[in-house]
Parts: sequence; structure tokens; C-alpha cells
Amino acid sequence: MTPQLRVYVPPHPLIKHWLAVARDAGTPSVLFRSAITELGRWLTYEAAREWLPTLETEVRTPLDTCPATLINPQVPVAVVPILRAGLGLLEGAQSLLPLASVYHLGLVRNEETLEPSCYLNKLPEKFDPQTRVLITDPMLATGGSMMFAMAELTKRGVDPALTRIVSVVAAPPALQKLSAAYPGLNVYTAIIDEVVNDQGYIVPGLGDAGDRIFGT
Ligand code: PRP
Ligand code: URA
Repeated sequence: MTPQLRVYVPPHPLIKHWLAVARDAGTPSVLFRSAITELGRWLTYEAAREWLPTLETEVRTPLDTCPATLINPQVPVAVVPILRAGLGLLEGAQSLLPLASVYHLGLVRNEETLEPSCYLNKLPEKFDPQTRVLITDPMLATGGSMMFAMAELTKRGVDPALTRIVSVVAAPPALQKLSAAYPGLNVYTAIIDEVVNDQGYIVPGLGDAGDRIFGT
């Protein structure tokens, strides 16, 4: 069977709540940041299902021994935040993946062409092919930035089937591009909004995520 892009919108009240807070134009930067942190935490929790590698072992309780499942520390886990806005999701992701390496990728869209350019690339030359990679970026609009990130990752040996994207608002143009290029990929998002306007903003969306996180 051909693998397909899978997009999960977890029906969780905490995710819906923090999305509503983030969408509200009246939410001040300090609370917006908290909302994005919480979304990072709960969406990472969902994304970790059947993705975080485990190993079967045995533990001794005070009374007896019993079978047990632990996170496998031998399999590398990496988080790739797309700067700036992806940094907002990092704290929540890291709280659940404390042993993950963090590789920053700084991308910014040209306001006219909407094409991304890269101003910081801390990716290693090569990833172990077993590496579980979680990419964080709250906005998937035209998809240009995430396509750029995926190209940088896959040319360094990352397997799209072992990669999870955590976003907050995803739009069809981005999902269509990712689906065509990386059918095994999994996306976790709080919502799918249908419209990307002529300025490249998702509507209704939540505005400029980076500006709102950093108060700029
Ligand atoms: C925003 C957002 C994504 C990108 C999405 O970043 O955080 O990275 O736009 O748009 P796309 O799907 O059309 O590429 P931006 O370039 O505004 O930079 P910032 O995070 O520093 O604000
Ligand atoms: N980037 C943002 O920050 N917001 C959008 O709506 C689209 C791209």
C-alpha cells in the first residue's frame, strides 16, 4: 500500500482551549506564549504515540518482578524548531522529550514572494537513519518553509516516516505539498483552516505567530 500523509487533529479539550486563546486577537503576548507552549506540550504528547521507541524489560517492585516498558535511550530523538515561531512550541515538546537533541533551523519568508530563506542551520551533517525527528512550527501556510525544512532533513538521512510535524494551524496548500513530496509523513495540528490570503496569512488563523510570541 502506498503511504499517505496523515494529518491528526486531536479532539482534546485542552488543545481546543489553548487554540481559542491563541486565536483571540485580544490575547496579550505573555498569554499567547503560554498558549503556544501548552499546545506544544499536548500536540507532542499525541505525536509521541507509536513514534517514541520503547523497549520491553522487567522491573522489580517491592513485592515481585513484572514486565515493564521503557523509552529506549539507544534510539536518537531530535527536535527541530523552525525559528522564530517554532521556538514557541519547543518548551512544551522538550518537557516530554527531555533527552532529545535540539537542532535549530532559522527560516524567514520574503514578504513579497513568500519564499523562505535560511539564516541559521544547526542541523548535523548526517542523522542516524533511525532518528525520530519532531519538527515544530505553529503555522503551515503556503508550505514553503516546511518543504524547505524537510528537504534539508531528508538530504541528511532523515526518514519522513519517522518524522512528526507539530503545528498549530495548518492550511491546505501546505498539506498538499507535503503530501505529494513526503507521503509517509505525519502532521499533528490543533486545526486546519481552509484559506491562505494573498499576503500568505492563514484565515482566520491567529495572525503572525512569531510577532505574537515575541511581542514584536
Ligand atoms: C512563519 C511561520 C512559518 C512560515 C509559514 O514564519 O512561523 O515558518 O511563516 O509560512 P509558509 O508555510 O507560507 O512558508 P515567518 O517567515 O513569518 O518567520 P518568523 O517565525 O520569524 O516570524
Ligand atoms: N505565518 C504566520 O505567522 N501566520 C500565518 O498566518 C502564515 C504564516
